[in-house]
Amino acid sequence: MPLPYFEISGGPRLRGTVRISGAKNAALPIMAAAILCDGEVILHDVPQVADVVSLGELLTKLGLEVGRRPDGALRLVARDEMNCRAEYDIVRKMRASICVLGPLLAKRRQAQVSMPGGCAIGDRPVDLHLRAMKQLGAEIELVSGDIVAKAKRLHGAEMFLGGPFGSTVLGTANAMMAASLAEGATVIEMAACEPEIVDLANFLNKCGASITGQGTPRIVVEGVRQLHGCEYRIIPDRIEAGTFMAAAAITNGELKIDNCRLDHLMAFVDRLVAIGVNVEKGPEGALVSSARRLEPADVTTQPFPGFPTDLQAQIMTLLCLAEGNSIITEKIFPDRFLHVAELNRMGAHLRKEGPTVIVEGVKRLIGAPVMASDLRASAALVLAGLAARGVTRVNRIYHLERGYEKLEDKLRAVGAEIQRKEGPDVM
Ligand code: EPZ
Repeated sequence: MPLPYFEISGGPRLRGTVRISGAKNAALPIMAAAILCDGEVILHDVPQVADVVSLGELLTKLGLEVGRRPDGALRLVARDEMNCRAEYDIVRKMRASICVLGPLLAKRRQAQVSMPGGCAIGDRPVDLHLRAMKQLGAEIELVSGDIVAKAKRLHGAEMFLGGPFGSTVLGTANAMMAASLAEGATVIEMAACEPEIVDLANFLNKCGASITGQGTPRIVVEGVRQLHGCEYRIIPDRIEAGTFMAAAAITNGELKIDNCRLDHLMAFVDRLVAIGVNVEKGPEGALVSSARRLEPADVTTQPFPGFPTDLQAQIMTLLCLAEGNSIITEKIFPDRFLHVAELNRMGAHLRKEGPTVIVEGVKRLIGAPVMASDLRASAALVLAGLAARGVTRVNRIYHLERGYEKLEDKLRAVGAEIQRKEGPDVM
């Protein structure tokens, strides 16, 4: 079966303006939160990406009306509360489906969600999600690969949501959503501080929830009896913004990046500046340019406000072309390095030692056929293609289409030579 791929001719300096879409990772849990609401939810700036379509399909099966309005806003209304099951077929495609667990349990008192397996970026357990649901009073069993959860009424609890790799983003989202309709107060210690969690809390509050402390490691949720719908705008996608900043830097270009929150990208910008990239605050976001050779820098991924794991692959591509050696350490998903072998196919000098990659800067990357393995690794290969000498073919870009809205159109509009084509999977 023919599959879409990108063909990129490297070299052109990117110049112009890019508008960043709404954040996929904020939109997904907020869409799931519509299960909790009595009444219509209207969401602006939900990106048109495959993961949003998949979650829309799941929510439709769960009895919600889901559709785009003519102005592009996503409209969700819960109509039928009979089906509480998220099947393996859909969870297998998209792990973020786990974020229907908390809302189903809180609103419908039962949930059956297929247990997510591992994926290209690692094992990805859900023990912390289950711990949170149990502490709120749910009974949980594993039946034929499904998490089966039941509760007469959830009650508030004090819980600690830290794991071996720190806080959990979707685990915090599930706990917050379930606690919103629980009886009494819930305190979540070591909550994730990511901007997407703040966005979810702000959305829930607009629907009548009572949440404080979002953006800090201690979130307090006072349960309420009912949530109503609301109209809400999703925050800009910080990972897409970071990817375009890296694109400006790696092509020695100059991009104005609109609809971008620099306060969500402090750690990334800190590393860009260390590498020698100019980043200035613009009227609606940022101005990013780079006119000279890049300096090496060390990077360690951490929970927010630390350096995001979702930008690790992209900064690795940038550091491939720095003048000297850099060290990249992955502290969230220690196996998230499938892009390393592909970048080496393009002439990079990367050596993996456990959760660390040693990057020896090279003068140039050389175009080659490469294979995308996960969403962010795919973005890193596109960046490599933009800077490489010759033609790069990035195969299996369906990974990329899960989370980047119209990436090739946006890149072409600022001068990249990139085409989306279809052909046999050649790897
Ligand atoms: C979210 O995944 C994002 N996904 C990921 O983005 C992102 O990489 C990740 O957070 C980290 O920032 C969405 O928001 C849809 P975690 P999530 O639970 O919530 C361990 C992308 O490319 N852990 O914060 O599933 C886990 O193994 C995606 O857009 C447990 O041990 O990640 C990891 O080491 C990929 N037990 C760490 O915690 C648990 O129960 C952080 O994972 C849960 C997680």
